[in-house]
Amino acid sequence: MVLFSCVCVFPPPFLRIFSYSFPPSLSAGGNMAARNVLVTGCSSGIGLALALRLARDELKRFRVIATMRNLEKSQALKRQAGPVLDTTLEIKELDVTCQESIRQCVDSIPQRRVDVLVNNAGMGMIGPVESQSMASIQRLFDTNFFGLVRLVQEVFPDMKRRRQGHIVVMSSVLGLQGLLFNDVYSASKFAVEGFCESLALQALKFGVNISLIEPGPVTTEFERKLYEEAANMDLSTADKETLDIFQDFYLNYSKDVFNALGQSPEEVAEHTMKVITSENPPFRYQTNSLYTPITTLKHADPSGNLPLNAFHQMIFQHDRLFKASLSLLKMLQWRKRRDMDYNKST
Ligand SMILES: NC(=O)c1ccc[n+]([C@@H]2O[C@H](COP(=O)([O-])OP(=O)(O)OC[C@H]3O[C@@H](n4cnc5c(N)ncnc54)[C@H](OP(=O)(O)O)[C@@H]3O)[C@@H](O)[C@H]2O)c1
Repeated sequence: MVLFSCVCVFPPPFLRIFSYSFPPSLSAGGNMAARNVLVTGCSSGIGLALALRLARDELKRFRVIATMRNLEKSQALKRQAGPVLDTTLEIKELDVTCQESIRQCVDSIPQRRVDVLVNNAGMGMIGPVESQSMASIQRLFDTNFFGLVRLVQEVFPDMKRRRQGHIVVMSSVLGLQGLLFNDVYSASKFAVEGFCESLALQALKFGVNISLIEPGPVTTEFERKLYEEAANMDLSTADKETLDIFQDFYLNYSKDVFNALGQSPEEVAEHTMKVITSENPPFRYQTNSLYTPITTLKHADPSGNLPLNAFHQMIFQHDRLFKASLSLLKMLQWRKRRDMDYNKST
């Protein structure tokens, strides 16, 4: 636990090398053609915030195709888009679990030209694995992993032909490091990471970039849906000890983590914007520097025991200290935001 607070607050030099600093961003300067950016899952959260951020770009570098599976949920985006609606932002239907829906959407874009694909649509899942139905596990993979595969199958061949393009994938820190009661969700993001890591090699040969965005907790509908599902879950197949850990410990702990470390979708959109406009986009990019030392433990010990033991101790043996560390992290997050606001206003 002490280890946890120490690595978070005072990351040793070997951990600091993992933070990415951007080379100069692309300056459109008004003479570059606007790039078509297709974003999935724009009815709420990160997708909505990113679609707005890109469409409001001062340099007008993007035409945003903001997609969602259910157009009846487009009111929030329409209301916030204001004047950019139907100028730099258009809304289209796309369900990532349906190849036909993806094809229809891409076919409706002039010359099928998707310069930047942002694979953002996704869903979460928490709870004891023995309480989850195979159908719901498969549905999650169909969205989080196979959805990405379908989209890539649709746009990657065109990008290779044009010898340019950028595939930006909303992964998660849980695609790098597993977490208690997040077994299935984490597995889906590990699948995403492995897929992209392999594909990136081929993509590079064709001048196509792939970037994995890895947020920590983000305060969106995602969190609300998780707790709602947890409240309605049939837990009758789990034993009492497991249930106690999940209900009495994990759910409270998870809320505290979101509370202490949670970023806003706008913050994640801002980071993603940097990746999209970078001349040399990073392959991996974590949006929350407070979380980076935790994922880095993994690289410090190839046996895997260091992060496993650190998490085990922090959760099951030193939970009071763990909560105290969260309060410290909350304060650091608040100070980081305050400094960012100050820098913006000066
Ligand atoms: N929030 C976090 O803590 C967090 C942390 C790390 C990574 N992420 C990742 O960030 C991404 C966005 O999540 P968020 O936090 O913005 O959550 P969110 O507010 O719940 O947004 C998820 C979006 O995905 C859409 N979606 C779900 N299934 C879909 C499908 N079959 N086809 C098309 N769209 C579909 C949802 O549409 P509906 O409204 O129709 O359901 C919604 O627009 C996800 O990939 C998530 O795994 C989130």
